[in-house]
Parts: sequence; C-alpha cells; structure tokens
Amino acid sequence: MKEENFFYIDNILHYKISDKESLSFDFLKGRLFNRLKRIEHESLFKKAIGKNKAQLKIFDATAGSLIDTIIFLKLGHEVVACEQSKILYRLLDDAIFRAKKEYNFFEKLSLINSDSAKIIDSYLDSDIFYFDPMFNKSNQNLKRSGLLQKISHILRHESLDDTSRLIFEDLLKKKYRKIIIKRPIKSDPLRKENINYQVKGKAVRYDIYINSQSS
Ligand SMILES: C[S@@+](CC[C@H](N)C(=O)[O-])C[C@H]1O[C@@H](n2cnc3c(N)ncnc32)[C@H](O)[C@@H]1O
Repeated sequence: MKEENFFYIDNILHYKISDKESLSFDFLKGRLFNRLKRIEHESLFKKAIGKNKAQLKIFDATAGSLIDTIIFLKLGHEVVACEQSKILYRLLDDAIFRAKKEYNFFEKLSLINSDSAKIIDSYLDSDIFYFDPMFNKSNQNLKRSGLLQKISHILRHESLDDTSRLIFEDLLKKKYRKIIIKRPIKSDPLRKENINYQVKGKAVRYDIYINSQSS
C-alpha cells in the first residue's frame, strides 16, 4: 500500500490504480448509492434471510464494497463486516465516516480489517454468516463489473487471494446457524450436498445452508 497513491477529490478519499483509474466509495450519491436503491436486492435478501422479524447478528466475511452489508443494515440487522484488504478498508472507513451523518444504521456496523479466518471463531454466535467470494477471472459478471475489476486489481496489488471458500468449508464443520453464499446465477454451488434452499435473482443466486443441529 503506497501512501502516495491515496488522494482526495471533493473530500472523498481515492486510491490510484493507474494513470487513468482510481477507486473510491461513496454511499451518499453516484453508482453505489444507486445500487442501494434497487429494490430487487432487498427482496432477494429478505427471502434469503427467511421469515424473521427480529434483529439478527450477521457476520459478513467478504465486505468488499460493503453494498451487501448495507442492505442487511437497512433491513434493521446488526453486522460485523470483515475485509482483508488494507486499501479497501481505508476507503470504506472514509465512506462510512461521511455517510454516518446521513444514516443511523451505520451505528449497527462493526467493520474489521482482518482475514476473516482469524476472527470468525469469535463470532460463532452470529445468526447468519454471509460470503460473497470473488468470481473467477473468466466469469462474465467480473468482466461486466468495473467495480469488481478494480477490487480484484487492488487485491493483486496487495498480494491477497480470496480465501473465503476455504473459510466456508471450515465453517460447515462448526456450529453455525445459517450460511448464505452469493453466487453468479449459472455457476455451481460451492457445496451441493448441504444446500437447504436457493433464492434466485436475474444475475445472482443465494445458496442457503441451515444447521439443524445448532440451537
Ligand atoms: C466479491 S467481493 C465482495 C463484495 C461485497 N459483497 C459487496 O457487496 O461489495 C469479495 C471481497 O472479499 C474479500 N475477502 C476474500 N477473502 C477474504 C478473507 N479471508 N478475509 C476477509 N476478506 C476476504 C476480498 O478482499 C474482497 O474484497
């Protein structure tokens, strides 16, 4: 992480990716804000969460641009979101600082900069574990999403791999209540055998794993 690659435009922290491109997050206007307004996302999430009016504790092991976490927060839940990238974390921290003045739901968010594998055991009492692994490079969705391409560029820059699939595999052996995995609609599930149900949107699918043993 090069300090000189961080810069501000209009009070928004950016990270320089190349001479032409940079990455920044803004939840108050622009692309991410528009995505947050899309109702389809919210209704899919509601179906994936299931009929539950109580406030849930959610552990998001793959924070990324925080969009999915924010949808959980908007639905009234409490979220611990973990992101391994130091660069993404700093950009998110800046965006949250600005958005906090506008939205109260950020009070129910703890954003942690760590490998999820290192902290997940401290959050085994979560009602839901959420994973959104990076798509393969060849995948169409990645080609279409400029944001994911930028995230993937930053991860390469920091020599970080997406290890969320391994964490998911490991979690299946533990006492979880519910796991939600976001997948591109046409891709194979990470693990077919244990799926309890699926929620399908136009481009994405949520595979849901429920552990009947846990109380
Ligand atoms: C596809 S993105 C997630 C997008 C996110 N759901 C959103 O709404 O923007 C995957 C993210 O998970 C992070 N990640 C992957 N493995 C991780 C791990 N072991 N610990 C923490 N973060 C991880 C990556 O750094 C990347 O930012």
